[in-house]
Amino acid sequence: MNRLKKHRCALFDLDGVIVDTAKYHFLAWKKIAAQCGYELTLQDNEQLKGVSRPDSLNRILEMAGTRLDETTFESYLHQKNKDYLQLIQEVTPEDILPGVQAALNFLKLNKVKIGLGSASKNALIILEKLQITSFFDVIIDGNSVQQGKPHPEVFLKGSNALGEAAEACVVFEDSQAGIDAAKAGGMTAVALGDAKLFKNMDYCYPDFEALDKVVLQTLF
Ligand code: BG6
Ligand code: MG
Repeated sequence: MNRLKKHRCALFDLDGVIVDTAKYHFLAWKKIAAQCGYELTLQDNEQLKGVSRPDSLNRILEMAGTRLDETTFESYLHQKNKDYLQLIQEVTPEDILPGVQAALNFLKLNKVKIGLGSASKNALIILEKLQITSFFDVIIDGNSVQQGKPHPEVFLKGSNALGEAAEACVVFEDSQAGIDAAKAGGMTAVALGDAKLFKNMDYCYPDFEALDKVVLQTLF
């Protein structure tokens, strides 16, 4: 557990933390999995959360017990993203998950640095749709990293860009891959969701409504 009394930096995952796009990733992958002769379940989907696009397809192929040639692999990645972009077209600021906007306001007001640490290459499009881009002092997404979560690169790049030590950062995550990335980077990891689904996190709350001002005041 990180013993630092006050943190100076908050690093947010995007999908499943700020907005419920996890359901759209699932729908798009379900279609691809079906093409591989596999029925993707919600339980399977837990293993895809936080995981990059190619790594997700590799995991699905493992589940399906099948392989693809390089051209088909690339075309499935392309198709998945095309379907996903179609599904997120209707995302609006109303889709910001409960309590997130209040948390962003609190952090801004208290001069806590805010960063995004997302595996998604579509992160900027979504932040724009949610109209919250200006809250972020730094945005590290799937286009800026070589190694996906659970590797800590995305969060370490975030803390470096903000000029803060890893120990000064709190990471908000909804995936085990993301919690592992945060802990590997030496940061405080807050899991959002069902505590039964996580291990190694420092704190867990069902959502940002439960993680209210009182909790934020103890973290920052
Ligand atoms: C993560 C999601 O945020 O981004 C994963 O949890 C997704 O499900 C990954 O695979 C990559 O996203 P994208 O938008 O680049 O395909
Ligand atoms: Mg996520």
